[in-house]
Amino acid sequence: MLRSKLPDIKTSIFAVMTQMANENNAINLSQGFPDFQVSKKLIDLVEKYMKKGFNQYAPMQGVFELREQISKKTFELYNHKYNPDTEITITAGATQAIYTTINAFINEGDEVILFEPAYDSYLPAIRINGGQPVYVQLKAPEYKIDWNEIKRVISIRTKMIIINTPHNPSGAIFTEEDIMMLRKIVSGSKILILSDEVYEHIIFDGNKHQSLAKYPDLIKRSIIISSFGKTLHTTGWKIGYCMAPEKIMNEFRKVHQFTVFSVNTPIQYAISEYIEKEDEYMNLSSFYQEKRDYFISLVSNSKFKLIPSKGTYFQILDYSEISDEKDVEFAKRLVLEFGIASVPVSAFYHNHQDNKALRFCFAKSNKTLDKAAEKLLKIS
Ligand SMILES: Cc1ncc(COP(=O)(O)O)c(C=O)c1O
Repeated sequence: MLRSKLPDIKTSIFAVMTQMANENNAINLSQGFPDFQVSKKLIDLVEKYMKKGFNQYAPMQGVFELREQISKKTFELYNHKYNPDTEITITAGATQAIYTTINAFINEGDEVILFEPAYDSYLPAIRINGGQPVYVQLKAPEYKIDWNEIKRVISIRTKMIIINTPHNPSGAIFTEEDIMMLRKIVSGSKILILSDEVYEHIIFDGNKHQSLAKYPDLIKRSIIISSFGKTLHTTGWKIGYCMAPEKIMNEFRKVHQFTVFSVNTPIQYAISEYIEKEDEYMNLSSFYQEKRDYFISLVSNSKFKLIPSKGTYFQILDYSEISDEKDVEFAKRLVLEFGIASVPVSAFYHNHQDNKALRFCFAKSNKTLDKAAEKLLKIS
Protein backbone atom coordinates (compact mmCIF):
# COMPACT_ATOMS: atom_id res chain seq x y z
CA MET A 1 0.00 0.00 0.00
CA LEU A 2 1.25 3.49 -0.87
CA ARG A 3 1.99 5.32 2.39
CA SER A 4 2.51 9.04 1.90
CA LYS A 5 5.37 10.69 3.80
CA LEU A 6 3.47 13.98 3.62
CA PRO A 7 -0.18 12.89 3.81
CA ASP A 8 -1.69 16.32 4.45
CA ILE A 9 0.27 18.24 1.81
CA LYS A 10 -1.91 19.28 -1.11
CA THR A 11 -1.19 21.32 -4.25
CA SER A 12 0.22 24.54 -2.87
CA ILE A 13 -1.87 27.68 -2.90
CA PHE A 14 0.93 29.30 -4.95
CA ALA A 15 0.27 26.89 -7.81
CA VAL A 16 -3.49 27.26 -7.33
CA MET A 17 -3.36 31.06 -7.51
CA THR A 18 -1.07 31.08 -10.55
CA GLN A 19 -3.30 28.60 -12.37
CA MET A 20 -6.36 30.67 -11.50
CA ALA A 21 -4.59 33.82 -12.68
CA ASN A 22 -3.73 32.18 -16.02
CA GLU A 23 -7.21 30.74 -16.53
CA ASN A 24 -8.84 34.08 -15.79
CA ASN A 25 -6.30 36.23 -17.59
CA ALA A 26 -5.63 38.07 -14.32
CA ILE A 27 -2.63 40.23 -13.37
CA ASN A 28 -0.44 37.79 -11.45
CA LEU A 29 1.25 39.34 -8.42
CA SER A 30 1.10 36.03 -6.58
CA GLN A 31 4.31 34.12 -7.31
CA GLY A 32 7.64 35.81 -6.58
CA PHE A 33 9.37 36.33 -9.88
CA PRO A 34 10.30 39.38 -11.97
CA ASP A 35 8.48 40.04 -15.25
CA PHE A 36 11.36 42.02 -16.73
CA GLN A 37 14.42 40.94 -18.72
CA VAL A 38 17.68 39.47 -17.51
CA SER A 39 20.88 41.40 -18.34
CA LYS A 40 21.90 40.77 -21.98
CA LYS A 41 25.53 40.56 -20.88
CA LEU A 42 24.70 37.66 -18.59
CA ILE A 43 22.75 35.83 -21.31
CA ASP A 44 25.68 36.35 -23.72
CA LEU A 45 28.04 34.88 -21.14
CA VAL A 46 25.90 31.76 -20.76
CA GLU A 47 25.96 31.36 -24.55
CA LYS A 48 29.72 31.93 -24.59
CA TYR A 49 30.38 29.16 -22.08
CA MET A 50 27.98 26.77 -23.79
CA LYS A 51 29.70 27.38 -27.14
CA LYS A 52 33.12 26.99 -25.55
CA GLY A 53 32.08 23.49 -24.53
CA PHE A 54 31.47 23.88 -20.79
CA ASN A 55 28.54 21.50 -20.96
CA GLN A 56 29.50 18.49 -18.84
CA TYR A 57 29.27 17.83 -15.10
CA ALA A 58 30.52 20.60 -12.83
CA PRO A 59 32.53 19.62 -9.74
CA MET A 60 30.30 18.32 -6.94
CA GLN A 61 30.87 21.41 -4.78
CA GLY A 62 30.37 23.82 -7.71
CA VAL A 63 32.64 25.58 -10.20
CA PHE A 64 35.67 26.95 -8.33
CA GLU A 65 35.56 30.37 -10.04
CA LEU A 66 32.01 30.93 -8.77
CA ARG A 67 32.83 29.81 -5.24
CA GLU A 68 35.78 32.20 -5.29
CA GLN A 69 33.59 35.13 -6.38
CA ILE A 70 31.06 34.31 -3.65
CA SER A 71 33.86 34.20 -1.08
CA LYS A 72 35.15 37.63 -2.26
CA LYS A 73 31.70 39.20 -2.29
CA THR A 74 30.91 37.88 1.19
CA PHE A 75 34.20 39.22 2.53
CA GLU A 76 33.65 42.65 0.97
CA LEU A 77 30.12 42.91 2.33
CA TYR A 78 30.27 41.12 5.69
CA ASN A 79 33.98 40.93 6.51
CA HIS A 80 34.26 37.17 6.83
CA LYS A 81 36.34 35.04 4.46
CA TYR A 82 34.77 31.66 3.72
CA ASN A 83 37.25 29.23 2.18
CA PRO A 84 35.97 28.56 -1.39
CA ASP A 85 37.45 25.04 -1.33
CA THR A 86 35.92 23.80 1.86
CA GLU A 87 33.19 26.19 3.01
CA ILE A 88 31.04 27.09 -0.02
CA THR A 89 28.81 24.82 -2.15
CA ILE A 90 26.72 25.72 -5.20
CA THR A 91 23.19 24.28 -5.13
CA ALA A 92 20.11 23.93 -7.35
CA GLY A 93 18.59 27.13 -6.00
CA ALA A 94 18.20 28.01 -2.33
CA THR A 95 15.43 25.41 -2.16
CA GLN A 96 17.89 22.52 -2.51
CA ALA A 97 20.31 24.12 -0.04
CA ILE A 98 17.47 24.36 2.49
CA TYR A 99 16.33 20.79 1.92
CA THR A 100 19.86 19.35 1.97
CA THR A 101 20.73 21.22 5.18
CA ILE A 102 17.67 19.85 6.95
CA ASN A 103 18.22 16.39 5.46
CA ALA A 104 21.86 16.36 6.61
CA PHE A 105 21.30 17.51 10.18
CA ILE A 106 17.79 16.73 11.35
CA ASN A 107 17.19 13.29 12.85
CA GLU A 108 14.06 11.65 14.22
CA GLY A 109 12.68 13.73 17.10
CA ASP A 110 15.02 16.72 16.70
CA GLU A 111 13.22 19.99 17.33
CA VAL A 112 13.47 22.80 14.81
CA ILE A 113 12.31 26.29 15.73
CA LEU A 114 10.44 27.97 12.91
CA PHE A 115 9.05 31.52 12.76
CA GLU A 116 5.59 31.78 11.25
CA PRO A 117 4.53 32.99 8.74
CA ALA A 118 7.30 30.91 7.11
CA TYR A 119 8.47 30.28 3.56
CA ASP A 120 6.71 27.10 2.57
CA SER A 121 9.65 24.73 1.95
CA TYR A 122 10.94 24.58 5.55
CA LEU A 123 8.13 22.63 7.18
CA PRO A 124 7.82 19.68 4.74
CA ALA A 125 11.61 19.27 4.82
CA ILE A 126 11.57 19.08 8.63
CA ARG A 127 8.69 16.63 8.70
CA ILE A 128 9.92 14.29 5.98
CA ASN A 129 13.16 13.92 7.93
CA GLY A 130 11.37 13.07 11.18
CA GLY A 131 12.01 16.45 12.82
CA GLN A 132 9.62 18.12 15.20
CA PRO A 133 8.65 21.66 14.16
CA VAL A 134 8.32 24.16 17.01
CA TYR A 135 6.35 27.20 15.86
CA VAL A 136 6.89 30.75 17.05
CA GLN A 137 4.48 33.37 15.73
CA LEU A 138 5.69 36.69 14.36
CA LYS A 139 3.14 39.24 15.50
CA ALA A 140 1.18 40.91 12.69
CA PRO A 141 1.12 43.61 11.39
CA GLU A 142 4.84 44.30 12.07
CA TYR A 143 5.86 40.62 12.16
CA LYS A 144 8.42 41.19 14.91
CA ILE A 145 10.16 38.38 16.80
CA ASP A 146 9.25 37.87 20.44
CA TRP A 147 12.59 36.64 21.80
CA ASN A 148 11.09 35.77 25.19
CA GLU A 149 8.94 33.26 23.37
CA ILE A 150 12.05 31.76 21.74
CA LYS A 151 13.67 31.42 25.18
CA ARG A 152 10.53 29.68 26.37
CA VAL A 153 10.42 27.08 23.58
CA ILE A 154 14.13 26.16 23.48
CA SER A 155 14.75 22.70 24.92
CA ILE A 156 17.55 20.14 25.06
CA ARG A 157 16.05 18.68 21.89
CA THR A 158 16.38 21.95 19.92
CA LYS A 159 18.71 21.09 17.06
CA MET A 160 18.15 24.02 14.74
CA ILE A 161 16.63 27.49 14.42
CA ILE A 162 15.58 28.65 10.96
CA ILE A 163 15.74 32.37 10.35
CA ASN A 164 14.93 34.37 7.24
CA THR A 165 15.89 38.01 6.77
CA PRO A 166 14.66 39.97 4.79
CA HIS A 167 11.57 37.94 5.44
CA ASN A 168 9.16 36.36 2.96
CA PRO A 169 6.18 37.02 3.12
CA SER A 170 6.19 39.97 5.55
CA GLY A 171 9.10 42.10 4.30
CA ALA A 172 10.31 42.42 7.93
CA ILE A 173 14.07 42.49 8.60
CA PHE A 174 16.37 41.51 11.46
CA THR A 175 17.71 44.50 13.41
CA GLU A 176 21.00 44.58 15.32
CA GLU A 177 18.96 44.02 18.44
CA ASP A 178 17.47 40.81 16.99
CA ILE A 179 20.99 39.57 16.27
CA MET A 180 22.08 40.41 19.84
CA MET A 181 19.17 38.39 21.20
CA LEU A 182 19.91 35.47 18.88
CA ARG A 183 23.58 35.46 19.94
CA LYS A 184 22.62 35.45 23.60
CA ILE A 185 20.06 32.71 23.23
CA VAL A 186 22.26 30.21 21.35
CA SER A 187 25.46 30.97 23.25
CA GLY A 188 26.80 27.88 25.03
CA SER A 189 24.42 25.54 23.13
CA LYS A 190 24.98 23.23 20.15
CA ILE A 191 22.06 24.70 18.23
CA LEU A 192 22.62 25.07 14.48
CA ILE A 193 21.17 28.02 12.57
CA LEU A 194 19.86 27.81 9.03
CA SER A 195 19.92 31.41 7.82
CA ASP A 196 17.90 31.97 4.67
CA GLU A 197 19.30 35.22 3.23
CA VAL A 198 18.06 34.98 -0.37
CA TYR A 199 16.85 38.61 -0.26
CA GLU A 200 20.15 39.92 1.19
CA HIS A 201 20.49 42.52 -1.59
CA ILE A 202 16.88 43.75 -1.44
CA ILE A 203 16.65 45.91 1.68
CA PHE A 204 15.17 49.40 1.91
CA ASP A 205 15.29 52.81 3.60
CA GLY A 206 19.05 52.73 4.20
CA ASN A 207 18.86 49.65 6.44
CA LYS A 208 21.80 47.25 6.34
CA HIS A 209 21.33 43.50 5.87
CA GLN A 210 22.20 41.64 9.06
CA SER A 211 23.99 38.65 7.58
CA LEU A 212 25.06 36.09 10.13
CA ALA A 213 28.40 36.16 8.27
CA LYS A 214 29.14 39.37 10.22
CA TYR A 215 29.21 37.56 13.56
CA PRO A 216 32.03 35.05 14.30
CA ASP A 217 30.13 33.40 17.17
CA LEU A 218 27.17 32.80 14.84
CA ILE A 219 29.27 31.80 11.80
CA LYS A 220 30.58 28.72 13.61
CA ARG A 221 27.05 27.28 13.98
CA SER A 222 25.38 28.62 10.83
CA ILE A 223 24.57 27.50 7.33
CA ILE A 224 23.96 30.68 5.34
CA ILE A 225 21.90 30.23 2.17
CA SER A 226 21.44 32.62 -0.75
CA SER A 227 20.17 32.52 -4.33
CA PHE A 228 21.23 34.11 -7.61
CA GLY A 229 17.62 33.76 -8.73
CA LYS A 230 16.65 36.76 -6.60
CA THR A 231 19.81 38.76 -7.22
CA LEU A 232 20.13 38.45 -11.00
CA HIS A 233 16.39 38.25 -11.90
CA THR A 234 16.90 34.61 -12.93
CA THR A 235 14.58 32.57 -10.71
CA GLY A 236 14.22 29.96 -13.47
CA TRP A 237 17.94 29.16 -13.51
CA LYS A 238 17.83 27.69 -10.01
CA ILE A 239 21.36 28.50 -8.92
CA GLY A 240 21.88 29.10 -5.21
CA TYR A 241 24.63 28.46 -2.71
CA CYS A 242 25.39 27.89 0.91
CA MET A 243 28.28 28.76 3.19
CA ALA A 244 29.25 27.10 6.45
CA PRO A 245 32.38 26.19 8.45
CA GLU A 246 34.26 23.17 7.08
CA LYS A 247 32.99 20.63 9.60
CA ILE A 248 29.37 21.51 8.87
CA MET A 249 30.01 21.79 5.12
CA ASN A 250 31.56 18.31 5.02
CA GLU A 251 28.31 16.84 6.29
CA PHE A 252 26.26 19.03 3.94
CA ARG A 253 28.29 17.82 0.93
CA LYS A 254 27.86 14.16 1.87
CA VAL A 255 24.12 14.59 1.28
CA HIS A 256 24.43 17.10 -1.57
CA GLN A 257 26.46 14.69 -3.71
CA PHE A 258 23.68 12.12 -3.61
CA THR A 259 20.86 14.64 -4.06
CA VAL A 260 21.97 16.44 -7.22
CA PHE A 261 25.74 15.76 -7.29
CA SER A 262 26.29 19.08 -9.10
CA VAL A 263 24.38 21.85 -10.86
CA ASN A 264 24.31 23.57 -14.28
CA THR A 265 27.90 24.11 -15.50
CA PRO A 266 27.76 26.92 -18.12
CA ILE A 267 25.52 29.08 -15.96
CA GLN A 268 27.92 28.77 -13.03
CA TYR A 269 30.81 29.97 -15.23
CA ALA A 270 28.69 32.77 -16.66
CA ILE A 271 27.61 34.02 -13.24
CA SER A 272 31.16 33.92 -11.91
CA GLU A 273 32.44 36.09 -14.76
CA TYR A 274 29.42 38.38 -14.55
CA ILE A 275 29.62 39.11 -10.84
CA GLU A 276 33.37 39.61 -11.05
CA LYS A 277 32.84 42.56 -13.39
CA GLU A 278 29.37 43.81 -12.53
CA ASP A 279 28.27 44.55 -9.02
CA GLU A 280 24.73 45.06 -10.26
CA TYR A 281 23.42 43.51 -7.03
CA MET A 282 24.71 46.57 -5.20
CA ASN A 283 21.99 48.65 -6.92
CA LEU A 284 19.26 46.13 -6.31
CA SER A 285 17.96 47.74 -3.12
CA SER A 286 17.39 51.12 -4.75
CA PHE A 287 15.91 49.47 -7.85
CA TYR A 288 13.35 47.57 -5.76
CA GLN A 289 12.78 50.41 -3.31
CA GLU A 290 11.59 52.51 -6.26
CA LYS A 291 9.21 49.70 -7.22
CA ARG A 292 7.94 49.36 -3.65
CA ASP A 293 7.38 53.12 -3.40
CA TYR A 294 5.67 53.21 -6.78
CA PHE A 295 3.34 50.35 -5.86
CA ILE A 296 2.54 51.91 -2.48
CA SER A 297 1.83 55.31 -4.04
CA LEU A 298 -0.54 53.68 -6.52
CA VAL A 299 -2.55 51.82 -3.86
CA SER A 300 -2.47 54.57 -1.23
CA ASN A 301 -6.04 55.62 -2.09
CA SER A 302 -7.38 52.08 -1.91
CA LYS A 303 -9.21 50.53 1.04
CA PHE A 304 -6.24 48.29 1.84
CA LYS A 305 -4.00 49.09 4.83
CA LEU A 306 -0.29 48.55 4.70
CA ILE A 307 3.03 48.86 6.50
CA PRO A 308 5.76 49.43 3.90
CA SER A 309 7.89 46.36 3.27
CA LYS A 310 11.46 46.77 4.61
CA GLY A 311 13.00 44.21 2.26
CA THR A 312 12.24 41.46 -0.35
CA TYR A 313 10.01 42.18 -3.33
CA PHE A 314 6.77 41.56 -1.47
CA GLN A 315 4.21 43.90 0.04
CA ILE A 316 1.49 42.72 2.40
CA LEU A 317 -1.89 44.43 2.10
CA ASP A 318 -4.39 44.16 4.97
CA TYR A 319 -8.02 43.94 3.79
CA SER A 320 -9.73 43.88 7.20
CA GLU A 321 -11.62 47.12 6.39
CA ILE A 322 -12.97 45.62 3.18
CA SER A 323 -14.20 42.16 4.08
CA ASP A 324 -14.60 39.51 6.79
CA GLU A 325 -14.01 36.70 4.33
CA LYS A 326 -11.22 34.18 4.99
CA ASP A 327 -8.07 35.21 3.13
CA VAL A 328 -8.12 32.23 0.72
CA GLU A 329 -11.74 32.98 -0.26
CA PHE A 330 -11.02 36.69 -0.58
CA ALA A 331 -7.89 36.06 -2.72
CA LYS A 332 -9.85 33.75 -5.03
CA ARG A 333 -12.65 36.30 -5.35
CA LEU A 334 -10.12 38.99 -6.33
CA VAL A 335 -9.00 36.81 -9.24
CA LEU A 336 -12.51 35.94 -10.40
CA GLU A 337 -14.20 39.32 -9.92
CA PHE A 338 -11.36 41.84 -10.26
CA GLY A 339 -8.68 40.00 -12.27
CA ILE A 340 -5.82 40.28 -9.79
CA ALA A 341 -3.92 37.42 -8.13
CA SER A 342 -2.07 37.49 -4.80
CA VAL A 343 -1.15 34.93 -2.13
CA PRO A 344 -3.21 34.65 1.05
CA VAL A 345 -0.82 34.93 4.02
CA SER A 346 -2.50 31.97 5.78
CA ALA A 347 -0.56 29.79 3.28
CA PHE A 348 2.56 30.52 5.32
CA TYR A 349 1.14 29.08 8.58
CA HIS A 350 0.87 25.37 9.47
CA ASN A 351 -2.58 26.03 10.96
CA HIS A 352 -3.63 28.48 8.18
CA GLN A 353 -3.94 31.38 10.59
CA ASP A 354 -5.95 34.15 8.96
CA ASN A 355 -4.59 37.68 9.47
CA LYS A 356 -6.82 39.16 6.75
CA ALA A 357 -3.69 39.80 4.74
CA LEU A 358 -2.57 39.15 1.17
CA ARG A 359 0.96 39.12 -0.23
CA PHE A 360 1.65 40.96 -3.49
CA CYS A 361 4.89 40.68 -5.51
CA PHE A 362 6.07 44.06 -6.87
CA ALA A 363 8.99 42.65 -8.94
CA LYS A 364 7.08 43.74 -12.02
CA SER A 365 7.32 46.37 -14.73
CA ASN A 366 5.63 49.67 -13.89
CA LYS A 367 3.07 48.89 -16.60
CA THR A 368 2.07 45.70 -14.76
CA LEU A 369 1.97 47.56 -11.45
CA ASP A 370 -0.25 50.29 -13.01
CA LYS A 371 -2.72 47.68 -14.22
CA ALA A 372 -2.67 45.89 -10.86
CA ALA A 373 -3.33 49.12 -8.96
CA GLU A 374 -6.20 50.04 -11.25
CA LYS A 375 -7.89 46.82 -10.14
CA LEU A 376 -6.99 47.17 -6.47
CA LEU A 377 -8.54 50.66 -6.35
CA LYS A 378 -11.89 49.24 -7.46
CA ILE A 379 -12.10 46.83 -4.48
CA SER A 380 -14.23 48.16 -1.67
C1 LIG B 1 12.58 32.96 1.63
C2 LIG B 1 12.92 32.15 0.43
N1 LIG B 1 13.82 31.17 0.54
C3 LIG B 1 14.15 30.40 -0.51
C4 LIG B 1 13.56 30.59 -1.75
C5 LIG B 1 13.91 29.66 -2.88
O1 LIG B 1 14.91 30.17 -3.69
P1 LIG B 1 15.30 29.44 -5.07
O2 LIG B 1 14.34 29.88 -6.10
O3 LIG B 1 16.72 29.89 -5.32
O4 LIG B 1 15.23 27.97 -4.82
C6 LIG B 1 12.62 31.60 -1.91
C7 LIG B 1 11.95 31.80 -3.21
O5 LIG B 1 10.90 32.34 -3.32
C8 LIG B 1 12.28 32.40 -0.79
O6 LIG B 1 11.37 33.36 -0.89
